[in-house]
Parts: sequence; structure tokens; C-alpha cells
Amino acid sequence: MRVGTPTETKTAERRVGLTPVSVRELAAHGHEVLVQSGAGAGIGASDEEYAGAGATIVGSAEEVFEAELIVKVKEPQAPERAMLRSDHILFTYLHLAPDPAQADDLVASGAACIAYETVTDDHGHLPLLAPMSKVAGRMSVQAGANWLESAHGGAGILLGGVPGVAPAEVTVIGGGVVGENAIQMAVGLGANVTVLDKVPAVLDRLDARFPAITTVHSTRAALEHHVVGSDLVIGAVLVPGAKAPKLVTAEMVKQMRPGSVLVDVAIDQGGC
Ligand SMILES: NC(=O)c1ccc[n+]([C@@H]2O[C@H](COP(=O)([O-])OP(=O)(O)OC[C@H]3O[C@@H](n4cnc5c(N)ncnc54)[C@H](O)[C@@H]3O)[C@@H](O)[C@H]2O)c1
Repeated sequence: MRVGTPTETKTAERRVGLTPVSVRELAAHGHEVLVQSGAGAGIGASDEEYAGAGATIVGSAEEVFEAELIVKVKEPQAPERAMLRSDHILFTYLHLAPDPAQADDLVASGAACIAYETVTDDHGHLPLLAPMSKVAGRMSVQAGANWLESAHGGAGILLGGVPGVAPAEVTVIGGGVVGENAIQMAVGLGANVTVLDKVPAVLDRLDARFPAITTVHSTRAALEHHVVGSDLVIGAVLVPGAKAPKLVTAEMVKQMRPGSVLVDVAIDQGGC
């Protein structure tokens, strides 16, 4: 099969669909791999490395789209969607639920489009979403701590507090992969952490792993109470294949203390 990886064009996207290591694997299995020149620049992989791994370097996205299987990172942008054909297989993150315009274009192209975030293993887990969820969950606390600094317009609160000053109140909505990784970071920094989830087994697992946190069943009343009282709120819910449920209302945000911070990791599914 011919496999193609174009340079990502979405704003600020630095990742690439195939690394030189994965190109080498594909080439060893007899596939022809087309890589757009410069596609690996954002991860520090040069055209020479890709060529050394067995790729053919091409000058444009149009040439990459001559392949049958297109491997990307982010959803195809409008010019990429215009290049999709009915004999293409597109393999990438799509996040279609909040993006009907993209869904319409993909259907019209006739291509077989496989969304990484919906690939499910035998245990019902999402193995292609999970690695990014681990990164995003950990980063959410780092980003939140940054925006809580007064220099960045925050309330001037240290997540872990200091002796004599209470730690920050951190509320994590959704205790899946993003939530668990966010909790790990927030607990590690000494914050007071509350997690809300709808699934009792999720709360049981988190309670066993992090005895110091508070686990709460996710209801409107509980959300209102914990969001309003938090210094940092992390949105980490997922209803697979659907838009994120809207849980944090404008009214709740208005009642939060000035300088509090919300990090909505579920934004790729429309935000919660
Ligand atoms: N922005 C990014 O870079 C990035 C990266 C990875 C994941 N994400 C997004 O983060 C979100 C979470 O991903 P994940 O991998 O942790 O999913 P996950 O399936 O592991 O966890 C989601 C959790 O949300 C819970 N949930 C669903 N509805 C809820 C509700 N009403 N109240 C409380 N909890 C509820 C589920 O029970 C589940 O435990 C998704 O929207 C995903 O697309 C974003």
C-alpha cells in the first residue's frame, strides 16, 4: 500500500502522523511511504532521517494525497478535505461531534475515515486517545498553575500552599484518563482535589489510588457547589462519539472567585 503523511497545517500543530521509526516499520513490511518535505520539522525529524528510514520525500500535500492511506494528526483542514477521494483511507483524530461542516465534507468525499479517538480495544478502552489524554491531563494542571500566578492575571495562588496558607481547591470533572492524570499532578503538588464522575466504578478506582482526594457523584448540585468554590477547575469529560455535555454554566463561572482558572481539556469535543 502507498501510505502518505503530509505536513500538519492546523495552527500551532507541531506533531506529525508518522515518525521515521514508524516509516521504517512500514517500509520493512513492503509499503511505499510518501512524506511531505518538512513534515517532521516540528518534532526535530529531518527529511534526511525520513529518507534514511525508507520514505520518498515529496514537495507538496497534493503529492502525498496520491497515496491510498493518509496518516495525520489533526482533522483535515478545508484544503486537505478538498483532496480526499473515495479510494482514500484517512487515519487521524477527527472529533466530528462538534464539527458538522467537517463531517459533511468527509461524507461527500466518500473516503473511509477512521478517527483515532473512536478506535476501541477489547476492554472498551480508547488506546489511541489515551496517550494524548495522559499528556493533556498532566499539562492541564501545569497550565492551570501558570494562569493562577498573579503575573498571568490569576489570583496569586500556589497549588500546594505553604505552611500557614491553605492549598488551592482543584476540581476535576471526569475521572477517566485525562482526569486521573490531572489528579496525579495536582495531588503531587499538594492541592486539595475533588473529582466528579457519573460512574461509581471510576470513583471507586480513584478513591483507592488517591486516598486523600474527595470523590463525588456528578450531579448538577454537586457541580455547582464544587465549581463555584474552586481555584482551578479542569474539564475532562467524554461521552464517546458525542459532543461534550455542558456542565459548567456561565452562572457558575460568575460566582467563582476572581482570578480562578478553568482548563477545559474536553474542548476538542466542544467543551464542557
Ligand atoms: N485537548 C486535548 O489535547 C485533548 C487530549 C486528549 C483528550 N482530550 C479530551 O479530553 C476529554 C476526556 O478524555 P479521556 O481520554 O479522559 O476520556 P475517558 O473516557 O477516559 O474519561 C471521560 C470520563 O468522563 C466521565 N463523564 C462523562 N460524563 C460525565 C459527566 N456528566 N460528569 C462527570 N463525568 C462524566 C466518564 O464517566 C469518564 O470517566 C475528551 O473530550 C477528550 O477528547 C483532549
